[in-house]
Amino acid sequence: MRKKVTTAIFPVAGLGTRFLPATKSIPKEIMTLVDRPLIQYAIDEARAAGITEFIFVTSRGKGALEDYFDHSPQLEDTLRQKGKDELLGKLLDTNMDSGAIAYVRQHKALGLGHAVWCARRLLASDEPFAVMLPDDVIASDTPCLQQMVEAHAETGGNMVAAMEVPDDKVSSYGVLDIKDDMGSVVSVKGMVEKPPLDQAPSNLAVIGRYILTPETMSHLDQMKTGAGGEIQLTDAIAAEINRSENVYGYRFKGQRFDCGSKAGFLQATVAFGLARDDLREEFQNYLSDMMPVRSAAQ
Ligand code: UTP
Repeated sequence: MRKKVTTAIFPVAGLGTRFLPATKSIPKEIMTLVDRPLIQYAIDEARAAGITEFIFVTSRGKGALEDYFDHSPQLEDTLRQKGKDELLGKLLDTNMDSGAIAYVRQHKALGLGHAVWCARRLLASDEPFAVMLPDDVIASDTPCLQQMVEAHAETGGNMVAAMEVPDDKVSSYGVLDIKDDMGSVVSVKGMVEKPPLDQAPSNLAVIGRYILTPETMSHLDQMKTGAGGEIQLTDAIAAEINRSENVYGYRFKGQRFDCGSKAGFLQATVAFGLARDDLREEFQNYLSDMMPVRSAAQ
């Protein structure tokens, strides 16, 4: 029987330079989409997929992230006494059980592959694990990682979330070279990080959800820097394709927002704001009447 995926790694040690100066003191993952920090969307998605062990790869300046998952007795008591049960429920949802969450430091931002490798000692040696990048927020009926875990129960091996991107965006992603296309699932014969369009094997791009095997982690032991001078997770997955041919892409159902970029974050804010019953009407009216406020941008 296949082992279940119960552990997820959240690499959150990046510098978040695209959001400077905000990220000078606020971790990117704490920035709020409507009223929840980005990281909460990822945690909720992980829980829905059956994840019970959460590993954060953090770095200097990410203390607010650790505080966010702590219990906050004073606030909880106050809300309880005032009978604010709904707010209390929201607050309690953010708490993590003691021991369910572990933090490991990446001392230098050497790339996503290196960040994942930093968690190696906290993983079981014989179980697949998930990697979730919280700046990819995915709106879907069935949470993306849950879709993947269900598909992975059939395929085993390594699985990456994938979506078709237009030609002018291909060079911003890891791109799959498809062996067999079975619809939602594709088997993969190669993977290239940020290829120029003329060298891209397809338009099927990898986004920030992965289910990986311990063998793929072991490739990171020997990894040298790749594209952009960083240690790339893509290179370790490509090495595993060569070794075992046991890598699949999964075309998830849903809409992905790149909240690591300013435009993507703003799009997500509008989409998630309009999806909320308590905000829709007022927000929609505002958007339909609005004129750009030049001075607000300066
Ligand atoms: P990004 O490529 O978005 O980099 O990382 P970044 O540093 O977060 O942001 P910019 O580009 O400077 O604005 C993708 C994911 O990988 C993590 C990031 O925290 C983010 O979740 N990461 C990246 C690490 O944990 N360590 C690294 O060395 C690099």
